[in-house]
Amino acid sequence: MCYAIPGKVEKIEKNVVTVSYFGEPKKAYSELPHLKIGDYVYAQGGYVLELISPTEAELILSGWKETFFELKKKDAQLSQLDPNQIKKTYFHSLLNKVTNQYHAEGALVSHQNSVLTREEKLFLLQLEHYKDKELLYKTANFLRQTYQQNSCCVHGIIEISNDCGQNCFYCGIRAENHHLKRYRLSTDEILSACQEAIETYGFRSLVLQSGEDPALTVPYLKELIYKIKARWPVLIFISFGEIGLEGLEELYQAGARGLLMRFETSNSRFYQRYRPGHFLETRLAHLKKAYECGYLIITGSLIGLPDYTPDDILNDIELAESLHAEMISIGPLIPHPETSFANQPMVNEDMVLKTLALARISDPNNKILVTTSFETLSPTARQKGLLAGANSVMLNATPLAYRPFYSIYPKRAHEKESLDQQIEETIGLLKLLGRAPTDLSIGVT
Ligand code: 5AD
Ligand code: SF4
Repeated sequence: MCYAIPGKVEKIEKNVVTVSYFGEPKKAYSELPHLKIGDYVYAQGGYVLELISPTEAELILSGWKETFFELKKKDAQLSQLDPNQIKKTYFHSLLNKVTNQYHAEGALVSHQNSVLTREEKLFLLQLEHYKDKELLYKTANFLRQTYQQNSCCVHGIIEISNDCGQNCFYCGIRAENHHLKRYRLSTDEILSACQEAIETYGFRSLVLQSGEDPALTVPYLKELIYKIKARWPVLIFISFGEIGLEGLEELYQAGARGLLMRFETSNSRFYQRYRPGHFLETRLAHLKKAYECGYLIITGSLIGLPDYTPDDILNDIELAESLHAEMISIGPLIPHPETSFANQPMVNEDMVLKTLALARISDPNNKILVTTSFETLSPTARQKGLLAGANSVMLNATPLAYRPFYSIYPKRAHEKESLDQQIEETIGLLKLLGRAPTDLSIGVT
């Protein structure tokens, strides 16, 4: 299965190219030398990754053409918003404001000129009536379809080590959990996991993740990234925690192009309390530096920390946006029995859905992830999340034998499913919802 379809280069302006997908233009950065108009390429996450031969491209595209338009049609049907549903209460007037903005301007907006005030957003986040929540999700889904069409980003993640020197209160792989068997994949194991994901299953972007493992030094990680990039044209996201600002630069030079790093919480008091010895400022400095280096940023937070409020959630959304997140990852805290939060009440599913919907309403241009933690909370979370504004999912490409040990929280979704099973399930759901398992939306303006 392939997670990117080939596009045809239509225009080249310095290092930004316009790639056409069945007539739908998207922009992407290109680092490929000698690219010409008319060439076929694979692009992912806003980067042109690989040139492919016209024969191969045309063959793949002929298989996709019908499905491409069928999926679009289905998605457009499912995300329609009946104007009669939006009536005349205060709540409805807010939704009208959001949807009218698109119709009035006919153009894309960003959070800087978001139509809703903070109070209005807070009001939406605190809706309780079943029907109101449903309509909120539908509005978010409508905006998702309007601004991002039906593309759904499918990343693969490989968890290369569960060793960690930190002691975040919420996390099951914290250093002081002495009941956990630790593992670190060898370079060969990492390369064969990459090989399986890329060559067998067609992934074009992979997240490499670990705890803050002191053995995974920057020189080691650099070598690893060189090796992967030398073998495959794949978009690599790094997620190794705070590797230092220079570390970020070095791994970028080695070929990494994305950073997955949550700031965990926008509340600096919580941050200090729950990540002992650490400061939010340092985290944010990493995220800012990464953006300056040119990394694509995936960031966000945990919701459900003790004493958090809807205000905190809104701050989280706004902080993620201000950090230039190309994808927002906000998921629920799942209490882990070996942590101080063992008895913390579980976040309710609607709170997560309202958060995803608010993130979509707040900035309709973002990609929004249905996190694995949300999927762990409920078996229908993925579907519900994708219908409440989200448009990205993450599959687990870690070798099966190691997965149970990456237990940041217990009974993680996909812990026991082979990559094959996860793909089958994902494709089935995306087809049902009219989404294309491609990464066509590109954040270059
Ligand atoms: N529940 C949900 N997410 C968690 N993380 C850590 N512990 C938990 C938990 N108990 C998340 C953090 C971290 C990511 C790797 O895992 O947000 O950034
Ligand atoms: Fe380590 Fe990250 Fe877990 Fe904190 S959240 S203990 S840094 S793996």
